[in-house]
Amino acid sequence: MHLLSFSDWTAKDANSLLDFAITLKQTPERFGQPLAGKSVVALFEKPSLRTRVSFDIGINKLGGHMVYVDSQSQPLEKREDPKDVSANISQWADAIVARVYKHKTLEDLASEGNIPIINALCDMYHPCQALADYISMKEAFGEIKGKTLAYVGDGNNVTHSLLILGVLLGCNQVVVTPKGHEIDANIAQKVAKMAAAENVEFTISNHIDTLTKADVIYTDTWLSMGDNTPLSEIKEKFMPYQVNKALMEQSGASYVMHCQPAHRDLEITGELMDSNQSLLMQESKNRLHAQNAILCFLLTELDLSQF
Ligand code: CP
Ligand code: NVA
Repeated sequence: MHLLSFSDWTAKDANSLLDFAITLKQTPERFGQPLAGKSVVALFEKPSLRTRVSFDIGINKLGGHMVYVDSQSQPLEKREDPKDVSANISQWADAIVARVYKHKTLEDLASEGNIPIINALCDMYHPCQALADYISMKEAFGEIKGKTLAYVGDGNNVTHSLLILGVLLGCNQVVVTPKGHEIDANIAQKVAKMAAAENVEFTISNHIDTLTKADVIYTDTWLSMGDNTPLSEIKEKFMPYQVNKALMEQSGASYVMHCQPAHRDLEITGELMDSNQSLLMQESKNRLHAQNAILCFLLTELDLSQF
């Protein structure tokens, strides 16, 4: 089994994983060293601070070992077919954590090797981030079901994963983007269906003025890794979507969230990042706990539904 996105998960399994992550965070001593003797290869085509470091330290805390393979100088498939990469790695290691440009590369890695592949960010999804974010929301509010997360800014990989996992967890979703920067149309369709099935509200708009009701505002960079558009070309279009104190007041949101890296005074003001409405460092801390729960789910016999 792999974790490429949460799109094929049930609401029950998503809730179990989230609850297990919180239990593992609060009482790690109950679980000992569940990855003792196991090795994980982290294959990165793009830069990372949080993901790389939190996986490495997290795996170590679970008793396992991580080997980092730097693939930033060229995409994986330029040197070797991803299928052959995972077939080789599976001769020695127990899982691959991969940050790649194209989702297809993850599918190729998953197609041949017989070890789990964990998506550490691709062009379409960032599932480890979404799990950490909903842990942070649950800690902040006590409950996720019935709350409203409003994503403001560029519709991207982070938005997609927040929507998919959020709907499964019963969190209402609002997405506000500038024209031409909407989320992927196929994902929008899928999320709309999922939201109807889970009885969750899901709205998409380009009108920032209509954002008058949210519990959390979430934003991300206007230019994702690999997007070489000069900032000067999009800044004017995005500036009205900046997340700042005025937007927090307009929407009534209690907290602001951002996956980071954040760009102070572009998509979010530095003042808001540093305020007591910011959940940014909780999200960062919870990356480790989210990922450790995912590793336990994929690599051990633990029955998560017990937690
Ligand atoms: N949020 C996140 O994935 O951060 P990094 O790119 O630093 O890993
Ligand atoms: N959307 C951003 C997220 C970084 C963690 C990117 O893909 O660069």
